[in-house]
Amino acid sequence: MSSNASMHGLWQSRWLFILAATGSAVGLGNIWKFPYITGENGGGAFVLVYLLCISIIGIPVMIAEVSLGRMGRQSPINTMKALAQKAGASPLWSSIGWMGAIAGFLILSFYSVIAGWALSYTLDMASGNFVNISAENSGKIFGDLLANPTQLTIWHTAFMILTLGVVARGVNAGLEKAIKVLMPVLFILLFILFGYALSSSGFGQGFSFMFDFDFSKLTTESIMVALGHAFFTLSLGLGAIMAYGAYMPADTSIAKTIIIVAFLDTAVAIMAGLAIFPIVFANGLEPSAGPGLLFQTLPIAFGQMSGGVIFGTMFFVLVSFAAWSSAISLAEPIVAWFVEKFKMSRTLAAVIIGFSAWLLGLATVFSFNIWSDVKMFDKTVFDLLDFLTTNIMLPLGGLLIAIFVGWKMSETKMMNEVGIDYPILFKLWRFTLRFLAPIAIIAVLVNGLI
Ligand code: TRP
Repeated sequence: MSSNASMHGLWQSRWLFILAATGSAVGLGNIWKFPYITGENGGGAFVLVYLLCISIIGIPVMIAEVSLGRMGRQSPINTMKALAQKAGASPLWSSIGWMGAIAGFLILSFYSVIAGWALSYTLDMASGNFVNISAENSGKIFGDLLANPTQLTIWHTAFMILTLGVVARGVNAGLEKAIKVLMPVLFILLFILFGYALSSSGFGQGFSFMFDFDFSKLTTESIMVALGHAFFTLSLGLGAIMAYGAYMPADTSIAKTIIIVAFLDTAVAIMAGLAIFPIVFANGLEPSAGPGLLFQTLPIAFGQMSGGVIFGTMFFVLVSFAAWSSAISLAEPIVAWFVEKFKMSRTLAAVIIGFSAWLLGLATVFSFNIWSDVKMFDKTVFDLLDFLTTNIMLPLGGLLIAIFVGWKMSETKMMNEVGIDYPILFKLWRFTLRFLAPIAIIAVLVNGLI
């Protein structure tokens, strides 16, 4: 059993951990990214592969990552260092923490820009700009936003300040209290939108787009994207969930708790898809529209429903909050490490990291306008950052975590830690970490890269 203290504090209860972890997991990945990559990768078959990745690889690795955190009770970098030492393994294992901290930093830089879109849309919605809007004009509003670096930078700045402002204070009762209200409201709003989509003429088409498995549309790159996204959406592979695990009460069953978090996360993604695709088809839009999908489609639906201004505003407020509670967990591992390593205040650590991530974020801002022609491997700066972190660094982090827990940690120790009640399930979990997950991840990475 792990010790009962961390210098950064502990969640007050199991439920607050669930809330915080769900807050981290449910974010832009679910509401913005999942629908658009599903659209780009042809729908059904992609969704199936994604669900398989979540259940076969994502959940077992997530359980492993959280247990490492709780056993170490420090920032991921120091946790990995300490655990490797205790297990008599090479100090190189702390690279899991290092790579994660870097990936978290890179993701934060572009995450903040996209979250800025949601902030900007909150204002647009509230001012009634979308009432009875046509699909064409909705596309134009989005295009105008992307073409304007100043606008993008303002919102990106605002979001970064919000995020690091919370991290500076510690993940305290303020945020915990906020998500307690906001997550349920987000669910309710998704249900309302889902109800609207259900009644729209495109529902059947949207539904079959998501659940008809046409394997001819599946490429090796889309399998890689599905695996990467399974990691991204569960906040896995970079130490974020490890850091949250470090603040988890000692007597909680990690396995049971993580299954709840993964279930909620998947449910939100599926509902977001089911809310968006019917609107796409009912309005003759393209499912493969890319990153703009959410922002071009949902406003049309809000523009047509009664009370749409209010619901629409609430919706984008909630997307912003979902992004906010996720972004915090991207910054937490590095901030916690700065505090431990340099004995500096959280505030100073947050300012340094926030400013640097903000600066790098400008590259993403420009990739949508003045640098939109700057491409490497046929990808813009934003696409490249996203691909490198999500599709390569996160699976690599997950691979190392699986191998470390599967091969380097003692079986009895893990048995005491993870809280899997049935020996056979425990064996299955351990087998997955030792063989199944590493082989699957390596196969996908190797195939995707060559
Ligand atoms: N899971 C979040 C989302 O779906 C993003 C995120 C937060 C994340 N923390 C993370 C992704 C850590 C990878 C690793 O939007």
